[in-house]
Amino acid sequence: MSEKKNQFKVGLGVTGGIAAYKAIEVLRLLQKSDCDVRVAMTTHAAEFIQPLTFRALSGHYVLVDDYDSGNPDPIAHINFSQEIDLFLVVPATANTLAKFANGIADDFITSTYLASTAPVLVAPAMNTTMWNQPATARNIARLKSDGVRFVEPIAGELACKTVGTGKLEDVENIAAQAMAMLKGTGHSARDLENERVVITVGGTREAIDPVRFISNRSSGRMGFALARAAFERGAEVTVIAGSTSVDPPTGPRIINALSAAEMHEAVFEEISDATVFIGAAAVADYRPKSAAASKIKKKDRDEMSLELERTEDILAKVSSTRRNGVIVAGFAAETTNVVEYATEKLKKKNLDLVIANDITKDGAGFNSETNIASIIEKGGAAENLPKMSKLELAHVILDRIAKIRDAGK
Ligand code: PMT
Repeated sequence: MSEKKNQFKVGLGVTGGIAAYKAIEVLRLLQKSDCDVRVAMTTHAAEFIQPLTFRALSGHYVLVDDYDSGNPDPIAHINFSQEIDLFLVVPATANTLAKFANGIADDFITSTYLASTAPVLVAPAMNTTMWNQPATARNIARLKSDGVRFVEPIAGELACKTVGTGKLEDVENIAAQAMAMLKGTGHSARDLENERVVITVGGTREAIDPVRFISNRSSGRMGFALARAAFERGAEVTVIAGSTSVDPPTGPRIINALSAAEMHEAVFEEISDATVFIGAAAVADYRPKSAAASKIKKKDRDEMSLELERTEDILAKVSSTRRNGVIVAGFAAETTNVVEYATEKLKKKNLDLVIANDITKDGAGFNSETNIASIIEKGGAAENLPKMSKLELAHVILDRIAKIRDAGK
């Protein structure tokens, strides 16, 4: 019986940081997506994780020292590097980035970087001060101009107990970006370089009193994925973020605006020179007519009513007041007649495109890592997309936006 061949070959480089253990999960996710993964580690990475772990999971000899007498391939850095479709480094330390940027090849991973013609994707993770060092920024800028793709680290609590940028991006997003590059849907092109994109993200909170509010289950994942993707494609990105439960991406400017009214105000402060607006936030349609100034007491009431009033429709107003050429995209979170209701919103709010998600489906809508959406363009039919990560969907949406822009030129 012939062995089934995997679709893609990935070289996974693991360098010496506390996030090295997360490379195991990246390896598993890539294997689930039909990749044969071969692992190489620096000696420092092997202090954090035993090479045996990767050997058992990948089914291949793990290269740490190519001079090691146990290494079955005497010119491994050449053979390894020329067999792979993608060289992925997770985590990438400041030291390894510096060596890549300067052509230093003093271990297996850095020699592979020089010897490989495969596309390279790196996911850095390090202490915030190291990330912010001008030397690190210089090395990253040089690598970007050499064509290396980055999955930028996120803000969060780091191993050293400080809070700041430097935490490894979610493993699902790293694997999704690797898969997008392997399938040729990765965006090495900076096709949004001249765009200024404003995106609303997350849910809103509408105060009942100083303690309580009405809100919804939006995590901000979808909107942050759009912000990340647009930023990586070269756009200047401003996020107007309501309530969110995940870390924002690094790069885009983040403005916090918790209520629908605050979000409305923040959007209209930012929109004047925007070229693209995307309404990904789940903005409340109604808010309590007046929020109580002090905590509402139960007293002996069994029932209580709240009088609600409509909020301003931010998306509709951006669309109706836009300058010529500004592209406006909205979302529609629906539970029934998804495409029909979304198409009504597209027409009523005069949008260029609407992304409809059926939030009753498993793996779609609020708070999930993935989404299942239909995209409907003005005057077009709905395109039903398969389940994909929110980052992949973000790129599909931005592809549509770039196409609409190019058609209008
Ligand atoms: O954040 P996640 O957990 O990742 O979840 C993602 C999501 C489900 C929130 C997202 O994919 C989504 O569907 N966002 C829109 C949710 C929504 O409020 O849909 P809607 O049908 O009520 O609103 C339609 C559009 O009008 C949306 O673009 C919304 O941002 C906009 N709107 C609505 C009301 C209002 N007052 N102002 C607005 O701008």
